[in-house]
Amino acid sequence: MSTNPVEFAAAAPDPMVPRPYRVERVRQETSDTFTMELESEGGPRDLPFAPGQFNMLYAFGVGEVPISISGDPARRSVLIHTTREVGMVTRAMRKLKTGDSLGVRGPFGVGWPVKEARGADVVIVAGGIGLAPLRPALCQVLAARNYYGKVALLYGTRTPADILFRRELQQWHSRFDLEVHVTVDRAMGNWRGNVGVVTSLIRRALFDPDSTVAMVCGPEVMMRFTVQELETRGVSAENIYISMERNMKCAVGFCGHCQYGPTFICKDGPVFSYDRLRRLFAIREI
Ligand SMILES: Cc1cc2nc3c(=O)[nH]c(=O)nc-3n(C[C@H](O)[C@H](O)[C@H](O)COP(=O)(O)OP(=O)(O)OC[C@H]3O[C@@H](n4cnc5c(N)ncnc54)[C@H](O)[C@@H]3O)c2cc1C
Ligand code: FES
Repeated sequence: MSTNPVEFAAAAPDPMVPRPYRVERVRQETSDTFTMELESEGGPRDLPFAPGQFNMLYAFGVGEVPISISGDPARRSVLIHTTREVGMVTRAMRKLKTGDSLGVRGPFGVGWPVKEARGADVVIVAGGIGLAPLRPALCQVLAARNYYGKVALLYGTRTPADILFRRELQQWHSRFDLEVHVTVDRAMGNWRGNVGVVTSLIRRALFDPDSTVAMVCGPEVMMRFTVQELETRGVSAENIYISMERNMKCAVGFCGHCQYGPTFICKDGPVFSYDRLRRLFAIREI
């Protein structure tokens, strides 16, 4: 057996051992957010994942962080992540260029109930970087569009400059079978669109609350108000799904870093139905 750690990692499918990936492309989405395409270095070419799952990305010599997969699940030869630079590891990741290496463990976690939502209306509510983990779910819904009722994407950011996936948003906007609303907290420049928090879009979206699955991702405060508004419109708690974030180390349920009451965000989530989390979610300190 090889004693070279990189060769060893490539040979052993151990969830605790990062596998080497090569950066194929980096695209700056906004001033602090970038999308990176990765390909396996000598590992499997087929990289299946479920929408909402995440990988542990290891910037060699700096550290490892959980980042959701933001690519289209139909493109199985490339791993795509959209990351906001907030600290040491994400800053080191931003400095990587085409051809550089990154360690990857995963995919981990339970994702969005895309298949289970077949037959229902689907409402996707995203705040800021929260659109990244929801993008694979929307891609999968649109790839099987006939199986769903009405589909709506409601997206809010702080300013127009913070909007992610601009070109794709325009394409989605032009579809007749998808309702798209974008809003910003503060209008700037030549913005002529909606102004206000993302929850204000829920009232106007077309969906049947009795037969709707809602998928929500964004800052916790945004998710609290979104859930409230969805419930006010009549969507039941078991049909509202939210994606939680907590500090992670192992990502496989061993270390306890991501414990949230009786659950581990890494292996029981990050996506949960709201009825499962309602009691804990009401306690802000957890
Ligand atoms: C399941 C899961 C999926 C995630 N998916 C994504 C993703 O798709 N894209 C993405 O950009 N991030 C995502 N995150 C958050 C990401 O893991 C953190 O931003 C990252 O760990 C920060 O590491 P760092 O070393 O760069 O910063 P740190 O040094 O750890 O933090 C620097 C500063 O940023 C603050 N900070 C840390 N995390 C966040 C955050 N999430 N939002 C705002 N401030 C923060 C810290 O409190 C600190 O003040 C996800 C987290 C989880 C648990
Ligand atoms: S990160 Fe270790 S238990 Fe979840």
